[in-house]
Amino acid sequence: MKFFVDTADVADIADLAATGLLDGVTTNPSLIHKSGRPFLEVVKEICGLVEGPVSAEVVATDYESMLREADVVRALADNVCVKLPLTLDGLKACRKLTSEGTQVNVTLCFSATQALLAAKAGATFISPFVGRHDDVGFDGMQLIDDIRLIYDNYDYETQILVASVRHPVHILEAAKIGADVVTAPPAVLRALARHPLTDRGLELFLADWAKTGQTIA
Ligand code: G3P
Repeated sequence: MKFFVDTADVADIADLAATGLLDGVTTNPSLIHKSGRPFLEVVKEICGLVEGPVSAEVVATDYESMLREADVVRALADNVCVKLPLTLDGLKACRKLTSEGTQVNVTLCFSATQALLAAKAGATFISPFVGRHDDVGFDGMQLIDDIRLIYDNYDYETQILVASVRHPVHILEAAKIGADVVTAPPAVLRALARHPLTDRGLELFLADWAKTGQTIA
């Protein structure tokens, strides 16, 4: 399973990239706003911090303008992945860009039939938003399950990128279903490594080790 971080904070990205566990980055207009930095500048910097795909979202809503913005974005670095909304114009732009060899992440997916269309349009990634689904009383993970089934039925190569992840259990469930990628905020990725019994066990081992009076050198 690939792990992407969902942020435009370069300090967090650099810190997580140093663990060797980070496979890519996703951003969106809200995260760019939160960073307080110019879009093109911050995306270019992020692309230099990770080898994997860095999703950068266009803000145009019609086909021609999406392609114009995509041209600017994909010129930033080889590992840019153009992020497009799941609309008919977005799907049309997806088909065009992927046929030219550009990676595309189709975002704002809230149904399995939308995900089916994205696969037909040749998307590299489909981003179903599980947290926002849960927020309005639907089961976000059921959506991931349905998309996995449909993609496997037809051998679609589009990767399921579970987005709008709010806690480690979303990642656990996504892994059990066989989603290809999760993107999560930095705090959620760091939380995956933590367990109170690990902390307690380490504390006890170190206390006993100190009693031996030894060092490892
Ligand atoms: O990047 C898209 C997605 O991960 C947004 O998450 O928490 O704003 O629903 P959230």
